[in-house]
Amino acid sequence: MSGAWASDALKGRVAVVTGAGSGIGRSIAEALAGAGADLLLADLAEAGAAETAAGIARGDIRVEAAACDVRDPEASAALFARAVERLGRIDAAISSAGIGGPAALAHEITPAQWEAVIATNLTGSFLFAAAAARAMVPRGGGSITLVTSQVSEVAQRNCAAYVASKGGAKMLVKAMALDLAPFGVRVNALAPGFTDTPMTRGGDPGHAESRRQSLAHIPMGRMGRPEEVADAAVFLASDASAYVTGTTVFVDGGYLTV
Ligand SMILES: NC(=O)c1ccc[n+]([C@@H]2O[C@H](COP(=O)([O-])OP(=O)(O)OC[C@H]3O[C@@H](n4cnc5c(N)ncnc54)[C@H](O)[C@@H]3O)[C@@H](O)[C@H]2O)c1
Repeated sequence: MSGAWASDALKGRVAVVTGAGSGIGRSIAEALAGAGADLLLADLAEAGAAETAAGIARGDIRVEAAACDVRDPEASAALFARAVERLGRIDAAISSAGIGGPAALAHEITPAQWEAVIATNLTGSFLFAAAAARAMVPRGGGSITLVTSQVSEVAQRNCAAYVASKGGAKMLVKAMALDLAPFGVRVNALAPGFTDTPMTRGGDPGHAESRRQSLAHIPMGRMGRPEEVADAAVFLASDASAYVTGTTVFVDGGYLTV
């Protein structure tokens, strides 16, 4: 569990996290809990979200789990309605839900493969963030964070659908930050570099090659840990980032410096 933040940094705040059943999303949930937030944790795999919730449950915070498919236009709205109903308010919304793309040259990606990646990583991000904004605008503020990727900034071989989805999400963040600033709602991207999670542990030979290339390119010489990404998520959810909107926070071991 992460411990970089004071245990009351988010005391009394309510955060909703999707993709909370695994990897970076699970670590973000743990870090938010460590900072004292009450949580509604969601995932396509409800059992994963429930396992995360069970792992962090303790007496002084409220933690609930729910199913949520970010591709479903109604699902995120239901999630925020539940957060307000059960936990009383909504302060922060973080989406870590995402899937990797096919390991294929750009011109060999099928339309179905393309659609699948865009549906989760880009359309799902929009649906989640828009539902969060509709819940936050009436109460005059909030923080929305979309987990994007270092590939929102630089391309990677054999990864065009994923790269395009994350680049799109980066610009979605900027556009939403502009629209929502007058309402006190901040919108940011959190871009992990190459991070040790189930997503990067599995994979076919194409992904193994892209893993090898990524590692060779990281100035700090190692993969990131999901807890290191999570600490930046607490920053973006908290008042420590009160003047931060429309930007991307990279947690990438220096990947983008060279
Ligand atoms: N691991 C990395 O190196 C890395 C690097 C950059 C960006 N990212 C991004 O970080 C995020 C988390 O990735 P991770 O490495 O923790 O992967 P992961 O596979 O461990 O976790 C992703 C989670 O998202 C959930 N999910 C997938 N589709 C969903 C949907 N339609 N609705 C709701 N939940 C859904 C999965 O069930 C899973 O629990 C993703 O957006 C990923 O693109 C990861």
